[in-house]
Amino acid sequence: MIFTVAIDGPAAAGKGTIGQALAARFGFAHLDTGLLYRAVAAKGGDSVAAARGLVAADLMGAGLRTLDLGQAASRVAVLPGVRAALVAFQRRFARAEGGAVLDGRDIGTVICPEAEVKLYVTASPQVRAHRRWLEVGGDETRVLAEVLERDGRDMGRAAAPLKPAQDAIVLDTSVLSIDEAVQAAVDVVQARMGA
Ligand code: DC
Repeated sequence: MIFTVAIDGPAAAGKGTIGQALAARFGFAHLDTGLLYRAVAAKGGDSVAAARGLVAADLMGAGLRTLDLGQAASRVAVLPGVRAALVAFQRRFARAEGGAVLDGRDIGTVICPEAEVKLYVTASPQVRAHRRWLEVGGDETRVLAEVLERDGRDMGRAAAPLKPAQDAIVLDTSVLSIDEAVQAAVDVVQARMGA
């Protein structure tokens, strides 16, 4: 069976948690596409060459999920050459036999417009900053400033900007518990699979 769940949305909205839960629930493969951009940023040097040479082991790095690499990833992600180098791998993953969940910024709009389910997972900047701060600690005001800066760059870039696909279902997790958000996403997938 080929079945793609595309999950897009801003940083710390809950995409990863929902993506993992859906993959476990339905037995689908899961790809956190932010890791691709983080790994490119972590390699340094020529970003386009780094993206072209990316291998699976580059995604395993334990230190890829820091705030600083999130910012650096958002900066290399504006480069059309970097994005182009990562398209084929993501498309193959999305349409592989067995079902797949991908979360990112442009999955439903660019990588897999034919996805059977498109979710746009969002939450207020304050809620997202608070969640990220609980994970990373430090100064919460700075975390909020970083979230807003990253939103601005990811939504404002010319190449594949973050926005909901026209046919995406918007899930605002600001006032939902993790369980409620996951259940809402499960319901959407189940309804589509039964259709
Ligand atoms: O989801 P994340 O925080 O790990 O993503 C890090 C950055 O990578 C994000 O700010 C923008 C970029 N990104 C992207 O441009 N397209 C994607 N599909 C995923 C991430």
